[in-house]
Amino acid sequence: MRNYASWNRGLDLDSYLKREKTVDIYEHAQNGKLRTWVLAPVDNPQTMDFFCACETFQRQALIHRSTSNGHRRVIAYGIAAVFCPQENRNKGYTTHMMRLLHYILAPVDTLDTFPTNWGSPPLQPSGLANASFSALWSVIGTEFYERLGWKAKEHVNTIWPCRETTEHLGRVTWLSEDDCEQLWEDDASYVEEKFLDSSRDESQTTCAFLPNNGLAAFQIRRVKTFLPGSPNLPIPTKWGVKLDDETEPAYATWITDINYSPASLTITRIRISEKAFPILLSAAMEAAKENGCNTVRIWSLDETLKKIAKTLGGSEEQDLECVPSLAWYEPEDTNDVKLFFNER
Ligand SMILES: CC(C)(COP(=O)(O)OP(=O)(O)OC[C@H]1O[C@@H](n2cnc3c(N)ncnc32)[C@H](O)[C@@H]1OP(=O)(O)O)[C@@H](O)C(=O)NCCC(=O)NCCS
Repeated sequence: MRNYASWNRGLDLDSYLKREKTVDIYEHAQNGKLRTWVLAPVDNPQTMDFFCACETFQRQALIHRSTSNGHRRVIAYGIAAVFCPQENRNKGYTTHMMRLLHYILAPVDTLDTFPTNWGSPPLQPSGLANASFSALWSVIGTEFYERLGWKAKEHVNTIWPCRETTEHLGRVTWLSEDDCEQLWEDDASYVEEKFLDSSRDESQTTCAFLPNNGLAAFQIRRVKTFLPGSPNLPIPTKWGVKLDDETEPAYATWITDINYSPASLTITRIRISEKAFPILLSAAMEAAKENGCNTVRIWSLDETLKKIAKTLGGSEEQDLECVPSLAWYEPEDTNDVKLFFNER
């Protein structure tokens, strides 16, 4: 209710409140993975008139160090819905909440001693204080979060304007939301392999979130609940595509993305060879047009695919609308860590 004015994206209040109830019943939020945090006065911690709020989602992630051969599965957190009601803004409440959040998510011995002038440290409910890192995707630039410990990471999208008439090349199978869910289970193994391959060539420590356990699915569910507020954008029936004639799995899954103007069909997961890339792109263009989107956008395209993307008319954009930002709770400095795949 408090954040309706900021985040309604064209929904009326009733639909917005309904969406709030339905979007977080799925796997990405279940079994305590989603927690909502509020900053409240010490003498009235149960008040509903809290100062500000945010959400955290516990997630499976991978990290790799250049000094080791293997990688580790770790727990990390995605942070979302950072919000302060208008009447409480610019009083430092969100700043305080966010710096306390580190002391809830991270193992205590990885952080500086809790400053005495902040009062008592927050209680760490069981199942927390276990993060290797936390990440958020800032829509308010980099400065605010950087000073609170979340460092912006480079994030380059590749984009294409859609052609007027588009018809896909090659034989393809369109993917429903259920089809995508099955696919992401296998995709998680692929991400792990690819992560390891790419990390081996890196002198820096690397990390990534895995797309299964509801993470990639969350993107679709989130978008679906907002689309009724955008009359020109239907709810897609195609959320991805698989190429039929490839020997290796070849696919992409996507969302229609109203964060961008014009609306974009944004590919959030992709597995494709250079040779088959044009077929996949043609299918994405067709799905984009069908769903009211005038651009196709791919998050964090692989370096080898960027070359072929250019030959197919793709241009690169530094994404300033939604900047991935990391707080790192392992020994390295946050600036020395690379985020792969950008799973939001
Ligand atoms: C962003 C937000 C959470 C800040 O809350 P707050 O309690 O007012 O923040 P604080 O008082 O701790 O800090 C204020 C600082 O945030 C900065 N800030 C606030 N909104 C900002 C914005 N849209 N873009 C960039 N910086 C912003 C202010 O400029 C101020 O900086 P200063 O200290 O250098 O003057 C609040 O404005 C809000 O809820 N906005 C709408 C929702 C939103 O955009 N959330 C962020 C999602 S990533």
